[in-house]
Amino acid sequence: MQHEPFHYPTTEALSETARKAGAFLPLSENTSALFQPLSLAGHEVSNRIAFEPMEGTDGTADGAPDTLTFRRYLRFAEAGPGLIWFEAVATLPEVRASAHQLWLTQENVGAFRRLLDEMREASLRVNGYAPLIVCQATNSGRYAKPTGSPAPRIAYHCPSLEDQPLPDSAVVTDDDLRRFEDAYAVTARLCVAAGFDGIDIKCCHRYLASELLSAYTRPGPYGGSYENRTRFLKNCYAAAQSAVPAEVFLTSRLNVYDGFPWPDGFGVTAETGLAPDLTEGVRLIGELRRDYHIPLINVTMGNPYRNPHVNRPYDHGNYVPDEHPLEGLGRMMRGVSDIQRAMPDLPVLGSAFTYPRQFAPNLAAGMVSGGHCAMAGFGRMAFAYPEFIHDLRATGRIDPSRVCVTCGGCASLLRAGRPAGCVVRDREVYRL
Ligand SMILES: Cc1cc2nc3c(=O)[nH]c(=O)nc-3n(C[C@H](O)[C@H](O)[C@H](O)COP(=O)(O)O)c2cc1C
Repeated sequence: MQHEPFHYPTTEALSETARKAGAFLPLSENTSALFQPLSLAGHEVSNRIAFEPMEGTDGTADGAPDTLTFRRYLRFAEAGPGLIWFEAVATLPEVRASAHQLWLTQENVGAFRRLLDEMREASLRVNGYAPLIVCQATNSGRYAKPTGSPAPRIAYHCPSLEDQPLPDSAVVTDDDLRRFEDAYAVTARLCVAAGFDGIDIKCCHRYLASELLSAYTRPGPYGGSYENRTRFLKNCYAAAQSAVPAEVFLTSRLNVYDGFPWPDGFGVTAETGLAPDLTEGVRLIGELRRDYHIPLINVTMGNPYRNPHVNRPYDHGNYVPDEHPLEGLGRMMRGVSDIQRAMPDLPVLGSAFTYPRQFAPNLAAGMVSGGHCAMAGFGRMAFAYPEFIHDLRATGRIDPSRVCVTCGGCASLLRAGRPAGCVVRDREVYRL
């Protein structure tokens, strides 16, 4: 279904199209809610804007942050989000998503420490406060490409994700999973040494922990029942918790909905087709809160390889989705709101706020002031125009000529294993 690229002159015009598309898009002209502090895990977070994890494929061969990594994160820190959710960092070399994915080791933890120190200093100097910084610890599973070629480690054969069935040898054994769990203790200890405030046991976008949530067809202790499908995630939490002091919190970026029909996806049932059913997601978040005291949850959806329109609504991509981008955005906002309403006392960080361009802050403010989430997370916008926070604070508006145009250029760089950034607004550094 073709649709007109983003062209709305006003929030009213955007609202009107969203209404016609049946999309949940609470917009607010008053964006001051975004500059209210939030108390979280013993920290005061200065504002409600988070920069979401954005893998940059710019680490050194041994996993350390390199020149472009420092550049990216110092720009982020100077921009002044209350929270920076640091990108996917591998827990083991064999499950890196690329030969340049960051990977924390005893040898390179000092470089991470230096980067975090510089980020805090930069934000203090420019903004007068330091951001909360969470590390996303990951096992890329199906999307492992440790030397640049695919080396998938899958939870189960998933027809929605495999054009040709992968060999059975790609399916991880229960022993592999136990080894992978142990690696979270090592990474968690290194996260503490690097100075992260919190650790995300990444469970989204169909990387390994996320994929296991829908392992209905996998035999043995990691498949079938809800208890079995959530076992890996919880064991990773237990491993990480054993390695960190109480002041470093654990949390997750969680796919509450994958966008694939049962039994190929989490967040659906055999009866609902593709319609989200968040029952298990709510249950899981409640259990993580009860057992691991997570102080917030980062809610996301979709798979960046097979249904990126569910994950990050766009105007230009490799295929034309059969829904309007505002419908996809509305699905994400509705899911975020449903989780927040199910757990009113747990701050929810919502994802995918970039699509509405210069009106993105209006959506973020509408969501936060309406109680639909506690914080609003920006991905692609952080690459294109990190300083939008300064402009918003100073003028209540952001510059339409600097916003992300959802062209997919940054994702194309990532897929090519090249350093990722904005090919439109930062093209002196990043080119396709
Ligand atoms: C180049 C690129 C890298 C990304 N890297 C990560 C990552 O490391 N971890 C993660 O959870 N999501 C990652 N994402 C997803 C974003 O965090 C975000 O969820 C998505 O872009 C939707 O938000 P947006 O509409 O604000 O861009 C990445 C997205 C892009 C385009």
